[in-house]
Amino acid sequence: MSGLLVVTGASRGIGRAIAERGLARGLAVGAIARSAGDLASLAALAPERVETGVADVRDAAAVGAAVDRAVARFGAPALVVAAAGTLGPIDRPWRLDAAALDEALAVTVTGTANLAAATVPAMLEAGRGTFVAVSASSASRVFPGWAAYGAAKAGLDAYVRYLADEAGDGLTAFSFVPGLTDTAMQAGLREVDEERFPMVAQFRRWHERGASKDPAVVAEALELALALPRDELHGALVEADQLLKRR
Ligand SMILES: NC(=O)c1ccc[n+]([C@@H]2O[C@H](COP(=O)([O-])OP(=O)(O)OC[C@H]3O[C@@H](n4cnc5c(N)ncnc54)[C@H](OP(=O)(O)O)[C@@H]3O)[C@@H](O)[C@H]2O)c1
Repeated sequence: MSGLLVVTGASRGIGRAIAERGLARGLAVGAIARSAGDLASLAALAPERVETGVADVRDAAAVGAAVDRAVARFGAPALVVAAAGTLGPIDRPWRLDAAALDEALAVTVTGTANLAAATVPAMLEAGRGTFVAVSASSASRVFPGWAAYGAAKAGLDAYVRYLADEAGDGLTAFSFVPGLTDTAMQAGLREVDEERFPMVAQFRRWHERGASKDPAVVAEALELALALPRDELHGALVEADQLLKRR
């Protein structure tokens, strides 16, 4: 791989693992998140190949400025990964806090659209590029308590299908589902009470049994995905666990 990888959610978890794998593969990385200290520790791994952007993905101008700085140093992105995400409010669908729901939808859907606005025109102009949106199985399967998360990821998947359809041949765009992964997001989930999240005991058991993947394994699965032919990816929903099984 060569060129620029732009990744949101690069401060920790899955986005961080994807950024680190990109660096290990020789890519330059435009790393975006809100946590400046964590981005600085990523940049310290390869200062000559990392441009950090402290930005909330809901802030289109801040995302645009961060991407522009990375593009000015390293050229048009070859690969863009929207990994920033939040579970949002966990509760019954009729009890969701409206402001928290708005925030979850905005981080997931608007944040990804902001990233696309900042990166896709340059990729189309270059005539090549791949845009990956990190989704979740909750978009199509019910995990009681996750209505906000499921709605946000379903909206994200629809957005990606439109992006794939409308961008034309110069871009490959797909949704990528990591499956259960051991990150801060999962740790927070295990703290939720059973009344709001009826499956919490199951998630705690999965964690105790070591069923959660290391984020580095998800980054490896994304690399497996990127090696697939375009017609298996473009507009599709690609599951890390399926790829890892076939490995
Ligand atoms: N872990 C799993 O089992 C799992 C399964 C399926 C899908 N996913 C998806 O994988 C992605 C990464 O999640 P994770 O598990 O790695 O969670 P995580 O450890 O909580 O990381 C979330 C990342 O998103 C960033 N982020 C959150 N809100 C943001 C905002 N408003 N602006 C900019 N960045 C923001 C965070 O950075 P800052 O806080 O520094 O901004 C952090 O880097 C998410 O899209 C998640 O939905 C995770």
